[in-house]
Amino acid sequence: MRKPYVAGNWKMNLDRAGAVKLAQEVARQSDGRGVEVGVAPPFVYVSAVSEALRGTGIHVAAQNCYYEASGAFTGEVSPGMVLDAGADSVIIGHSERRHIFGETDEQVNKKVRSALAAGLNVILCIGETLDEREANKTESVCERHTREGLKGVAAEQMAKVVVAYEPVWAIGTGKTATPGQAQEVHAFVRGLVAKLYNKQTADALRIQYGGSVKADNALELMSQADIDGALVGGASLKVEPFLAIIAAAQKAKGL
Ligand code: PGA
Repeated sequence: MRKPYVAGNWKMNLDRAGAVKLAQEVARQSDGRGVEVGVAPPFVYVSAVSEALRGTGIHVAAQNCYYEASGAFTGEVSPGMVLDAGADSVIIGHSERRHIFGETDEQVNKKVRSALAAGLNVILCIGETLDEREANKTESVCERHTREGLKGVAAEQMAKVVVAYEPVWAIGTGKTATPGQAQEVHAFVRGLVAKLYNKQTADALRIQYGGSVKADNALELMSQADIDGALVGGASLKVEPFLAIIAAAQKAKGL
């Protein structure tokens, strides 16, 4: 069975004290039985949060990184720096990176490869916009994001990759994909990974759902066969809803 993975993407929120406190409370109160848990603080708080979570088994992820190892890239942070700050993971290709900051599939792919080469785990985000869904392009967009994002990634490296399906129209909008809509895309992506790699790799891949996941819709979403956890934005900024989503993952997977 795939171990469910619930990660909180804090985006550009919290201050140093608030980030450390939230991390500590999640660690103190969560009975993470059977579930992998992660948090993604803003870059500047990665060290403090990693320090606070040392020895707890909770993953710390950066929300982005650059693909070069060092050099004249003002404002950027390399995968090695992310590791050095104490994180073990990085979110790559989040829709806000793609749509607000113009990240291309090619850049996303370079980041994925560079992060894996540095030894980080990667959460690769994919997902269609509302226009794309209405134009029946959901599968082709998710296929492109997955295929291009994983170009050059070897089957052995896939053990360090998690895919997050996040329909853009559901992020921060309060609109969630129905469990059926999400499951359909998750099954499609798993089938695609089986074609790109092999069945074993596809069966082992965790595919998180993201987009307005809340305490009250998490159970139904994660009860779907191919939904292996959640990438949670807004509801990860407070302890109770985030813990409730972790508990929903346990319940959904019979843990
Ligand atoms: P949301 O964000 O849960 O606030 O919709 C999810 C995400 O962007 O990862």
